[in-house]
Amino acid sequence: MDDLGAEEVSEVLRVADSFVEVGRRANPKVPALRGRTVATLFFEDSTRTRMSFETAAKRMSADVLSFAAGSSSLKKGESLRDTVETIEAIGIDSVIIRHSSAGVPARVAQWVDHCAVINAGDGWHQHPTQALLDLYTVRQAFGGGDAGLARFEGLQVVVVGDIRHSRVARSQISAYAALGAEVTLVAPATLLPPSLEGWPVASVGHDLDAVLPKADVVSLLRLQSERGSGTFVPSLREYTAGYGLTSRRAAMLHPDAVILHPGPIVRGVEIASEVAELPAARITDQVSNGVAIRMAVLFLLLGQGPVDGAHRG
Ligand code: CP
Repeated sequence: MDDLGAEEVSEVLRVADSFVEVGRRANPKVPALRGRTVATLFFEDSTRTRMSFETAAKRMSADVLSFAAGSSSLKKGESLRDTVETIEAIGIDSVIIRHSSAGVPARVAQWVDHCAVINAGDGWHQHPTQALLDLYTVRQAFGGGDAGLARFEGLQVVVVGDIRHSRVARSQISAYAALGAEVTLVAPATLLPPSLEGWPVASVGHDLDAVLPKADVVSLLRLQSERGSGTFVPSLREYTAGYGLTSRRAAMLHPDAVILHPGPIVRGVEIASEVAELPAARITDQVSNGVAIRMAVLFLLLGQGPVDGAHRG
């Protein structure tokens, strides 16, 4: 996300508008990527990102291949570099990569000549399309279009939870800051990064109750247990007591505030089950918008014609 400024972020959101409209059609399919082939290479678990990218590519008429690392020649000792070069030689136009190690998509991008590489989440590092779909959802909640976009200037965004291990936090903080929002981080000291130098945040604290009344957006993060975050808090119960968005805390939000969570949610830990069902909680909107955002990203990287027209070249 650090490579994108306000103009580029805004462009992705505007292009996604067209694909939200496509998604509402009885036949939500356009020929924009006909003849193109994309492959998803997921080396780490995923439900929404993989399905969302695959749905996005299929809605644009691309051919989609789902690489299964567990049954690939990686098992015979082939390196990731040789695997990627093989995939490119087959003629794949884009690889969408999720990996538990930070930097893998950037490294893969150095190994390929023609293939567009998309980061679907790398370690603690980045999850750019998640940040873009979050921003899209906020813009939509505030009326959409340019008026919704204008609301980001000075918007009070509170990011809560396991910031230390969160690629979503790293991407969304940059994205919100690019559009002029003021980001406050709230987490136990153990779940903050060792240094926040260079992070574009307005403030950092440990008292969620104190910041909720002024929040326009509350973005909750899951405890990243697969990255050991359970050992950074005394117990889940204590974590929820300090940092969970309970019904009591949700009642402190102003009526227009938006609650976001990238998913998967762990009900009863970072968000109470009943709070996840409130109209203010836009969690399923985030998932729906993710398809349009990923269509926009694929279109901007691979598409050459009008959104619902034929290829130019
Ligand atoms: N938000 C997100 O990345 O979810 P998945 O791990 O299910 O893809």
